[in-house]
Amino acid sequence: MLEREAEEKEFWKKVRAEFLLDPGQVFFNTGTLGAMPRRVFDRVVNHLRLTAEKIAEWDYYGADWISGYQPWTEIREKIARLLNCQAGEIALTENATAGMNYISNGLDLEPGDEVLGTDQEHPGGESGWKLKAKRCGVVYRQLPLGKPIKSPREVIDTFVQAMGPKTRVLAIPHIITGSGAILPVKELCAEARQRGIFTVIDGAQTVGQIRVDLKELGCDAYYGSFHKWLCAPAGNGFLYLRHDMAGKVWTTLASTQWDNQEDHGFRLGQRGTGNLSLLFGLDEALDFHFELGPERVYARIKALGDYLRTRLREVPGIKLFTPLHPEMAAGITVYNIEGLTGNFIQDELWKRARLRPRSMGEVYGVRQSTHIYNSFEEIDRTVDILKNLAAGR
Ligand SMILES: Cc1ncc(COP(=O)(O)O)c(C=O)c1O
Repeated sequence: MLEREAEEKEFWKKVRAEFLLDPGQVFFNTGTLGAMPRRVFDRVVNHLRLTAEKIAEWDYYGADWISGYQPWTEIREKIARLLNCQAGEIALTENATAGMNYISNGLDLEPGDEVLGTDQEHPGGESGWKLKAKRCGVVYRQLPLGKPIKSPREVIDTFVQAMGPKTRVLAIPHIITGSGAILPVKELCAEARQRGIFTVIDGAQTVGQIRVDLKELGCDAYYGSFHKWLCAPAGNGFLYLRHDMAGKVWTTLASTQWDNQEDHGFRLGQRGTGNLSLLFGLDEALDFHFELGPERVYARIKALGDYLRTRLREVPGIKLFTPLHPEMAAGITVYNIEGLTGNFIQDELWKRARLRPRSMGEVYGVRQSTHIYNSFEEIDRTVDILKNLAAGR
């Protein structure tokens, strides 16, 4: 057993060394933007340099030197393998926000039609629906959820009670940005499907953090970002649209493929000239993730998150906003200490030990994301300082 533990420790130490992160700093804000491994960075930079130096060699007969006009099927196939769907169901986007807008803008809805969301959305999960409400008279209702949420049942009951004859869309996050709560998406999608309600899930925080199996979840659409937990360069996201729902969503950014009825992912991913170097960075990040082993990655993230939440209980005056239910939390933990603020905790952790979580403001304290480049020892260091802060030292 001890041997096994030592091996694991050694393995993750080596993984940490594959990142360019400064060895004297500890990064706990993957929820905003993940750090890139060296090989991802190199792939981007090498291609960017090639584009700068050798662009005259681009003859237009073979491969493109820009993204935006080709289907990039091989990369979409890797994404489809990761998420358990078809490549044709995946559109490449810049980020999660684009995915939300492509669905909210692309769906035909009538005045009075109702969209259900939560009261804990990120702007990148709700703003498209607010715009739709103002522009088209759609009713966007944001249902109150606990903070922390106590159980999956609490969420399922809230939504099932709210689903009515006017409800057309269920638009919810898979992981809530401000608490790290994992919502019971599979159960909610099944309830919605029975009632003919279109489901679209915000997966900005999931891919690379927890297992996402789109067939199992049973949603109609799902969007996310690769630049957080998958460690791809910023500017990489996706939109999944289930093949039998493809006819329901109009293209938002229209270019040459705007009406492609064979490859809907290509149609929805239209965006004109894009940065191919960044897309190659995503390709490399996908390979890195597959090589580490997705299940091993998710288990490590979950173990670190659980460890942090357990150790936080030792801190006097701790307030946890992440669910304690074992199925409802993974690598994001949000907490405050009685009488303190997020900015204060963030600044002290940085000043005292170069630990970098993210402030969530006055009430909700800080969000600490624990990823594969973090360690149990770094969590111990955090908790030691938190204890001192709680004691006014
Ligand atoms: C739940 C959620 N949705 C949407 C977004 C927006 O993501 P992006 O800025 O990559 O579009 C975020 C970003 O933190 C998020 O946490």
